[in-house]
Amino acid sequence: MEIDRRTFFAGLGGVAAVAAMADEAKAEALEHHMMLQLSVANQAATATDKKFPTAAEVEAQIGTQPSRRGTGNLFVSHTGNVKKLTPLPERPTLVDYFKQRFMATSNHCLQSANRAMQNGMSEEIILACLLHDTVQDLIKVDHGWWGAQMYEPYVSEKVSFAIRYHQALRFYEDKEHGYEYPDLYRRVFGYDYKPEPYIEATYKMVRAHKWYLEPRMVTVNDLYAFEPGVNPQLDQFLDIIGRNFKQPKEGLGFDNSPVAHMWRSISRPDSPL
Ligand SMILES: [Fe+2]
Ligand SMILES: [Fe+2]
Repeated sequence: MEIDRRTFFAGLGGVAAVAAMADEAKAEALEHHMMLQLSVANQAATATDKKFPTAAEVEAQIGTQPSRRGTGNLFVSHTGNVKKLTPLPERPTLVDYFKQRFMATSNHCLQSANRAMQNGMSEEIILACLLHDTVQDLIKVDHGWWGAQMYEPYVSEKVSFAIRYHQALRFYEDKEHGYEYPDLYRRVFGYDYKPEPYIEATYKMVRAHKWYLEPRMVTVNDLYAFEPGVNPQLDQFLDIIGRNFKQPKEGLGFDNSPVAHMWRSISRPDSPL
């Protein structure tokens, strides 16, 4: 893949900023930049090439890959070997996890939260957008449910409702509220894919729920691909996190909550047991 040095350096704050970065951080940034480029290329391909696979063709790919599609991003590398992770502080906060563990998902989530903010959404929807896919660094399959569970002790019921159900709503159009079925899903699941019965049942339940618009707005502000040149920073959401996220004083992973082990697994994905 060809790297445009100017855009790459500009994205990191210029040549001087890059010079001040540690080698590990540079490698990380380069990998991230390549992922972005790849997504942009995929998006362009999606727009022009309408030849989507069938669900059966997608299914047939199992057995040709070294890992399963539901595996969390932290646990497998698609660009060579996995990298050594920087240790988290003794009492890690959401911001620490965002910066040191959510490498594969943070840009996408920041872009979604940024869009929600620009669209004048409530703080709860902005926070839900900011968190909605981060659990995919741990596990991708059923990420709405996993994500909601992982965040439940620390956010309002509305926020975890929005995170849990955005996954099911993404399969169902709602043009009235500005949501169309994405081509990305035709590519990833096959154009003739029918969601599982539990997804269909969940959709029907949420569609009739008084909080329907919470997860729906996550899907509306979600992005189907990375937007080139948009790199929102976590700083712009720190106040919203401060007001809406109950950071445990012991640190995420050490507060003895029912989900502490999920945070520890993200903190220490190299632990063999
Ligand atoms: Fe999602
Ligand atoms: Fe998303």
